[in-house]
Amino acid sequence: MKNLISMRDLAPQETLALLQLAEDIEAKRVRPDLSGRLAALLFFEPSTRTHFSFDTAMKRLGGQTLSMSGSGGTSAQKGESLADTLKTISMYADLIVIRSAIEGAARYAAEVIDIPVINAGDGANQHPTQALLDLYSIRKTQGRLEDLSIALVGDLKFGRTAHSLVQALARFRPRFSFVSPEHLGMPYYILEDLQAAGVSYRQLTSLDGLACELDVMYVTRIQRERFADPEEYEKVKGCYVVNRATLAGARESMRVLHPLPRVNEIAAEVDTTRHAYYFQQAHNGVPVRQALLATLLEAAE
Ligand code: CP
Repeated sequence: MKNLISMRDLAPQETLALLQLAEDIEAKRVRPDLSGRLAALLFFEPSTRTHFSFDTAMKRLGGQTLSMSGSGGTSAQKGESLADTLKTISMYADLIVIRSAIEGAARYAAEVIDIPVINAGDGANQHPTQALLDLYSIRKTQGRLEDLSIALVGDLKFGRTAHSLVQALARFRPRFSFVSPEHLGMPYYILEDLQAAGVSYRQLTSLDGLACELDVMYVTRIQRERFADPEEYEKVKGCYVVNRATLAGARESMRVLHPLPRVNEIAAEVDTTRHAYYFQQAHNGVPVRQALLATLLEAAE
């Protein structure tokens, strides 16, 4: 494994090895040494969790970071191409983490530079490190990844976290419920892959009565920034609000996950229930990203 661009690039055994290393790092059984290593964190789109957890992950293992939020202040503002920007930064750093609004940007980066590239989110396409920490969170709370009933709720069309998570979980015999407004359903190319792999899924527009059937409810934000027409966003915003009533009858072990940020799709009253797990989920991003950084930097030596 040289880069992480899409969950489709990872074999199940590679995924499980990363999760095991993350578990060992979190339990302090191992501590990879990244001293002398430098990661460039190039965030062309806003981020709180992904950016800061990569930064934390590097620094807590003794490494260092170069950090960029938006292209302001760089020579991209003078018209420098993305390829030239990336080639230049690869002269300084050992690894690049990139987030961009452009689908395929991370794959392109991996084609034009020689150091490892991690996709930290490319438009509405993929967010593989989020999927890894989601798998880690699911295994931690459910004790396994296999044979789980999982609902993905919200914007499944533009939701890159949902795309990556579904591809990652498809290898573990899930039963999926995809809950979205009609026009924000899971893309056909992902549904076709699920059909070809014999994965069970159903498509719903309502959350009513669903919680009691689930092991995991994975809620996502309706993303205003992905809509070309603001009126279309207005029609669907606030269409799902998970509250205590939504969770009535849920198993004790059922957990509500959300990649965050949330707007109003999970009511604050859920935060104090045993089902809420989204802030611990964000915490899990650090050991998972430490495991990935250590693996890619070791492979690149
Ligand atoms: N989950 C996630 O990608 O959050 P940020 O946009 O804050 O990085």
